[in-house]
Amino acid sequence: MRFLHTVLLAATLPLLPSQAYAQGNAQAGFTKSDDERCQECHGPDGNGDMGDGVGNVGKFPKLAGQNLDYLMKQLRDFRTGARNNDTMTMNAKSVSESDLLDIAAYYASLPTMHGEGGADGAKFQKAHTLFTQGDPERGLPPCQSCHGKAGKGGVDPGIPIIGGQHIKYLQKQLTEWRAAERTNSPGNVMGHTAATLTDADIEAFSDYLSRQ
Ligand code: HEC
Ligand code: HEC
Repeated sequence: MRFLHTVLLAATLPLLPSQAYAQGNAQAGFTKSDDERCQECHGPDGNGDMGDGVGNVGKFPKLAGQNLDYLMKQLRDFRTGARNNDTMTMNAKSVSESDLLDIAAYYASLPTMHGEGGADGAKFQKAHTLFTQGDPERGLPPCQSCHGKAGKGGVDPGIPIIGGQHIKYLQKQLTEWRAAERTNSPGNVMGHTAATLTDADIEAFSDYLSRQ
C-alpha cells in the first residue's frame, strides 16, 4: 500500500498545474473585488464570513492567503464547467481573465486564513494521525504530503491551503469529491482519496482542519 501511495503520488504530481501565472495587481484587485461583488460573499478580508442571516455562514470559502495558481485554476474550472457551481460559474464568466487575475492576486495577498484553534480529544487526535500519516490499510495517503503541515500549503502552488478553512465548506467539498460531484482535481487524486473516507472521517477532518 505504501507502494501504491508512491505510485499515486508519482502519477499525479506531474499532472498538477505547474503553470506560473503573472502576478496580477493586488491593489487594483481590491477595488475590482468590490465592483464585481466578490466581497458580498467572500468578504472584503477574504474570510467569507458574510452569512446571509439564515445560517449560511461557512458556505462561502475563505480565499484569504490562498495560493494564486489554485485560485486561478478554480475560476477557470468554474468558467469551463469542469467544476460545477451555478453561482460561481456565473461570476467567473462575467469577469475578464485579467480582472480575475487582479482579484485573485488581492485575495492571495491577504493574511492567510486561520481557525480558532482548540483540540477535541480522541476525534481530533485521530484526524491528526490520519492527516499526517494516512492509513496504508485502506490506501489512504497522508493529506499532509500534498496539503502541507496543518493544511497550510507550501508543497505546490496548485494545491490549496485547507487549514483554517470553514468547516461547512470543507465538509461539502469532501462529500462532493467522494460522490464524484466535484471531479476537477488533477488525475482525480481527490476523488480517489475521498473514496476511502467514511462520513465520520469527513466530519473529523473538517473539524480538525477548520481549527488550524
Ligand atoms: C453570491 C455569492 C458569491 C459571489 C458573489 C462570489 N462567490 Fe465565489 N464562491 C461562492 C460559493 C458558494 C463558492 C463555493 C462553491 C462550492 O461549494 O463548490 C465559491 C467558490 C469560489 C472559489 C473557489 C474557492 C476554493 O477554495 O476552491 C473562488 C476562487 C471564488 N469563489 C472566487 C470568487 C470571485 C473572484 C468572485 C467575484 C468575481 C466571487 N467568487 C463571487 C459564492 C460566491
Ligand atoms: C496527491 C496529492 C493530494 C493528497 C494526498 C490529498 N489532496 Fe486534497 N487536494 C489536492 C489537490 C491538487 C486539490 C485541488 C484540486 C483542484 O484543482 O480543484 C485538492 C483539494 C482538496 C480540497 C478542496 C479545497 C478547496 O478549497 O476547495 C480539500 C477539502 C482537500 N483536498 C482535502 C484533503 C484531505 C482531507 C486529504 C487527506 C485525506 C487530501 N486532501 C489529500 C491534492 C491532494
